[in-house]
Amino acid sequence: MRVLLYTGKGGVGKTSISAASAVRCAELGYRTAVLSTDPAHSLGDSFDRRIGSNLVELAPNLWGQEIDLLSQMDQYWGTVQSYLNALFMWQGMDSLVAEETAVLPGMEELSSLMQITALAESGRFDVIIIDAAPTGSTLQLLSFPDIARWYIEKIFPFHRKTVQLARPMVKRMTDMPLPGDEIFDSIQELVSFLERMSRLLSDGTQSSMRVVLNPEKMVVKEAQRAYTYLNLYGYSVDAVICNRVFPRSLSDNYFDIWKNAQAQNLELVHECFQPLPIFEVPLFEQEVMGIPMLTAMANAIFGAEKVRGGAGDPTQHFYTGKPQEVFKQGSQYVLSLSLPLVERNEVQLHRSVYDELVIRIGNWKRNVALPTGLAKLEIAGAKYVDDRLNVFFDTKDATVTVSEEELKPRRWENLKARFRRN
Ligand SMILES: Nc1ncnc2c1ncn2[C@@H]1O[C@H](COP(=O)(O)OP(=O)(O)O)[C@@H](O)[C@H]1O
Ligand SMILES: [Mg+2]
Repeated sequence: MRVLLYTGKGGVGKTSISAASAVRCAELGYRTAVLSTDPAHSLGDSFDRRIGSNLVELAPNLWGQEIDLLSQMDQYWGTVQSYLNALFMWQGMDSLVAEETAVLPGMEELSSLMQITALAESGRFDVIIIDAAPTGSTLQLLSFPDIARWYIEKIFPFHRKTVQLARPMVKRMTDMPLPGDEIFDSIQELVSFLERMSRLLSDGTQSSMRVVLNPEKMVVKEAQRAYTYLNLYGYSVDAVICNRVFPRSLSDNYFDIWKNAQAQNLELVHECFQPLPIFEVPLFEQEVMGIPMLTAMANAIFGAEKVRGGAGDPTQHFYTGKPQEVFKQGSQYVLSLSLPLVERNEVQLHRSVYDELVIRIGNWKRNVALPTGLAKLEIAGAKYVDDRLNVFFDTKDATVTVSEEELKPRRWENLKARFRRN
């Protein structure tokens, strides 16, 4: 199973490129689903037909859906939300304010993630292509599992068992609503869902993110930032698609200045994103609508040759650099994160009491749950080496030994244990 996600600024061509990739995948015989998570859906326009919020068949092997952000949110979040609502009202909040507060930032994104995960787990598809929302919203979507984990830990800092034991005593002392079993069940379901989803999208062997841009300075800048943040969250980016490049054959004087500017910006794109492969797509003489145009676009991106598992196959891994890895170096362990394009002084690091490494870049923050092996060790320092941030953990004075098993990424284990029945 492959998941391909296209992201970039509004209007750069994400929907067209997702649709073109989907057409090619279906042609190669992959059972393909193309899903749009942008509330401003235009997948239907690309295929020149109505698509809507249910999965519809568009061609042999090809299905499409424009996900409705709010429709499924209630199913998973409803129970927890009503408890939070009661808790906030108990704290004296006005009921309307409580209701608003119980909707945590990013919760809307949940339904997109649920749909993607559910389809991925259904076994119905070989390839799922995500036509994502403009950069900011997509990053929010992708950082959501991390944010959710943080919230759940803070809001429900107690174990099910503890609550069961303390309930009679708390009841005597206060009328504060305590979460019941159904809340714990519901959270456990949510946690397990988010865990599966986070595992799927951050597994570079299955999921690849692709940055779409145009050769315009502002667009390149935004794409650079997106690339940094995708790396920050440990997602694997395997290609850049540079869309709307003026064809070389264009020989109208009027466009000379534009063409020169584009040539310069193309150079900038190469400087910024190497060693990622960069695919150039020409500006066509008309809008990209309907399957014949999408096929022409697929030819431009992936080449006209079509070999399943080979040339022209959009499911290839075009680049396989590792966003995040742990290795031993002398007496130290190194947690190495790929964070290209960041000004060094922008990165702030600290360690939280929850055995997390908190990395802050500008307005974005990531809580990296340290592998248990590393959580036991002292941080000895951090250093930028090329495009990677290396964080060193000392084993010199440590009386503990670290096993291979303990160095595996750990994102959700603690939380899952907390919500298990006993
Ligand atoms: N290479 C191209 N040549 C001509 N028109 C294009 C090209 N790429 C995209 N378009 C057109 O530009 C508009 C915006 O593209 P779209 O794929 O919807 O962008 P996004 O999803 O990033 O907002 C659409 O009308 C699309 O048909
Ligand atoms: Mg779009």
